[in-house]
Amino acid sequence: MQNPIGMNRKKAVILRPTPENIHKAAEAVRSSDVIGMPTETVYGLAGRVDSIPALTRIFETKERPTFDPLIVHVGPTAKGIQKLSWLKLIDRFRLSSLQEQRAELLMNQFWPGPLTIVLPKHPEVPDLVTSGLPSVAIRMPKHPIAQALIETTGIPLAAPSANRFGRISPTTASAVFEELGDRIQWILEGGECEIGLESTVVDLTDFENVRILRPGGIAVREIETTLGIQVLHGGANSKAFHAPGMLPSHYAPKTPLKILPKKLGEMTFPEIEATLKGFSYTSIGILLASEDPEAQKLSKKLSCPLYFGSLSSHGDLKEMAHRLFAEMRKLDSSGADLILAEPCPYADGLGYAITDRLTRASHRS
Ligand code: TXA
Ligand code: MG
Repeated sequence: MQNPIGMNRKKAVILRPTPENIHKAAEAVRSSDVIGMPTETVYGLAGRVDSIPALTRIFETKERPTFDPLIVHVGPTAKGIQKLSWLKLIDRFRLSSLQEQRAELLMNQFWPGPLTIVLPKHPEVPDLVTSGLPSVAIRMPKHPIAQALIETTGIPLAAPSANRFGRISPTTASAVFEELGDRIQWILEGGECEIGLESTVVDLTDFENVRILRPGGIAVREIETTLGIQVLHGGANSKAFHAPGMLPSHYAPKTPLKILPKKLGEMTFPEIEATLKGFSYTSIGILLASEDPEAQKLSKKLSCPLYFGSLSSHGDLKEMAHRLFAEMRKLDSSGADLILAEPCPYADGLGYAITDRLTRASHRS
């Protein structure tokens, strides 16, 4: 889909991740520029955490409201409560020994990787990072280029997903270019993001309970096994509950998206017609969970052009997560004016995160 400002105004350069280019990108970041950074989840828009001009640029570039807090990305040597405290990111004096113990367990088990941990914030972390919350979200990415950029810059990097606010997160450098190519100078090429959806956000700021604020790359069950407790879901008692990453309408394509009640190949034609009632459309995008010849037969029955996308060739959950945003993006720019998405056939782990993203994408306010 064409950017409203116009393709020809796009100026971003996609940099091959050579050592020279990583230095060039790190220099830009050091002087408070913001750049596209690959991670194993989705691409981020990275800027130094201690620079108000860089943080302001992140919010402006994304058109993101400042009440949506940012995640701080640390380098591969910053594991542990003591290190995070030295880096002046967290206030360890506001943590009980039980909270510290839980944080250490999670960091040891899942860092580097797709787990973001919310902890009490150090007074020196700018309020712009945390939207004025007393807590800060921290993650150690696993992607070697993200690690190299953070290490070379020498400063933790605040990085939201590199999409315009409320839109589909980018999982390739060219998707970052599509989203923000007219607004940033550099995008580091890091290939397709391995996981394909964002990190799991876990809140450790409560003295007793552990809460999952956003399902993502790490399965809730793995967190529960590591901690030996059951976690709560959603931030019902926290201000952060209202952060847009948790709002019903988020990660949305421009095209209306409807989740089907079951696999398309198992639906009767009258059931499909009933699903389409109330929608006006001239062509339909169909997002299959798995490739399915039965679904393809539909083309003959529905009297409009159909565009197909599928999350996996034969039902592999990791592949489904890996392809979700790229396939949504593809159908969004296919020309279809309605997208029908099959529900994810798996309830747990990445399946929970996929269902979360599809539900938010389907929500129209
Ligand atoms: O995988 C990811 O986490 C990606 C990559 C780039 O690392 N980043 C990402 O950032 O998804 P973003 O800005 O799209 O999502 C950040 C979300 C916020 O919307 C909010 O839900 C949560 O993280 N968050 C950040 N700081 C928080 C805080 N102090 N308390 C509670 N939630 C917080
Ligand atoms: Mg985002």
